[in-house]
Amino acid sequence: MDTSTIVILDFGSQYTQLIARRIREFNVFSVVLPCTAPLEQVKGLKPKGVILSGGPSSVYDADAPKADPAVLAMGVPVLGICYGLQFITHHLGGKVEPAPAREYGHAQVSVIAETPLFRGLPAMMDVWMSHGDEAKELPEGFELTAKTSNAVAGIADEARRIWAVQFHPEVAHTRQGMELLKNFCLDICGANQDWTPEHFIQSTVERVKAQVGDGHAICGLSGGVDSSVAAVLVARAIGDRLTCIFVNNGVLRKDEFSKVQKTMREGLGLNVVAVDSSERFLTKLAGVTDPELKRKVIGNEFIAVFDDEATKIFEAEKSAGEEVAWLVQGTLYPDVIESSSVHGPSHTIKSHHNVGGLPADMKLKLIEPLRDLFKDEVRRIGRDLGMPEEILERQPFPGPGLAVRILGEVTAERVGILQEADQIVVDEIKKAGLYRKVWQSFAVLLPVKSVGVMGDQRTYANTCAVRAVESEDGMTADWAPLPYEVLRTISSRIVSEVRGINRVVYDITSKPPGTIEWE
Ligand code: XMP
Repeated sequence: MDTSTIVILDFGSQYTQLIARRIREFNVFSVVLPCTAPLEQVKGLKPKGVILSGGPSSVYDADAPKADPAVLAMGVPVLGICYGLQFITHHLGGKVEPAPAREYGHAQVSVIAETPLFRGLPAMMDVWMSHGDEAKELPEGFELTAKTSNAVAGIADEARRIWAVQFHPEVAHTRQGMELLKNFCLDICGANQDWTPEHFIQSTVERVKAQVGDGHAICGLSGGVDSSVAAVLVARAIGDRLTCIFVNNGVLRKDEFSKVQKTMREGLGLNVVAVDSSERFLTKLAGVTDPELKRKVIGNEFIAVFDDEATKIFEAEKSAGEEVAWLVQGTLYPDVIESSSVHGPSHTIKSHHNVGGLPADMKLKLIEPLRDLFKDEVRRIGRDLGMPEEILERQPFPGPGLAVRILGEVTAERVGILQEADQIVVDEIKKAGLYRKVWQSFAVLLPVKSVGVMGDQRTYANTCAVRAVESEDGMTADWAPLPYEVLRTISSRIVSEVRGINRVVYDITSKPPGTIEWE
């Protein structure tokens, strides 16, 4: 049986992905397409329902995003949200105008007509609004279902099975938003709640099996959640015909190279080729102090090492009469959406730097088992695959690793000092139960020496900054108000346990204007 699908047509709202995530939270599969998607593509997905998202434009703008109005007559229920309501109104013969009182933020909506969309919801609802235009005249056949004191808040034409709301049910500030989306997807559209981790794992494993046949694949591991979950899923399908490559670039955290190998091999049964190239990286980094140059050096070196290893595996398989034809990547759904969004080609997919320079004759085909998933779903799948929390809940760690946390030159000695300090920060944050509450927490080694006194001895040693931030997505962040006790323990442990550091400072800069990393 096909998975029930709800198609969301994106008119450019910052909340579009949130609509998809909310619907998936109650186990209904949802797909985001640009509003310009051809009707045939929408029909091809056999959707149970279609949602028209919000968007920043006015329907009267010359370049206003448009969907094929035929989606309104496809015979499946339609829900318009914000701009979606205005698009429906405009295209079916109603009137949309600039609102005399624009509504942004909290608003109260009163339900004035019975409709299955509002079934079980209170007559007065707290909602979240964000619009400058409003529906002034409804198209024929539509009735007003809800309003605020200023404007139209809900309309419906039940004969044509079209509903629309001016507010945003997908944002948490709209208290009954989830219920409203459930009413639409489950009751009105009749979607099945069959988008479950077990279902995803089973269908992905079957698909990868069919795709790869008896072929071989390689996968670069970073130790982070995406590449690990992707590798475990593919290994479920093709076993040890998947070879994972894990590179020590010399700027990993303390013991990470050995710990990740152990977890991947013993814990997850993956076939891992671990390559210790730390000397090679550190040699290339000698004398480099510019942050962007550090990134470039590490990126290029990574490609070179990955290619060397991939070539070895490729050659070995070839001489055994086999061929490595596949490369596994942990691409996630937000990247897939971005690459085809109405925002246009400027928001192109982020390229994983580890595939940049693979030898041409390898001609690897991509397996992207996570390309339908959001980050939180990847964690859910990882949990169902029995992967350890230590991987699933790991804080983000930048590709160039500790190199962008060592200001000035990166040397083996300075990496060693920072690894010790970093370990203490992570330990103490975990002990205080804050590891999952903060987005990232780490130490930074500054190119500043200062005077101290230890056991009657004068010291002249390095300064370390502690950074802990709270964030939703890393785009903006606020410094975390860590309890003084935690800061006190971190500071005293670093100064007494880490040779080479005699002073600790706490970074209280938000992003913007700062960035999360120091380089
Ligand atoms: P910034 O420092 O720009 O960081 O506020 C935002 C998020 O991105 C991570 N970051 C990187 N990740 N390669 C990566 O893979 C990089 O060069 C890089 N620079 C920053 C950073 O850790 C934070 O989560």
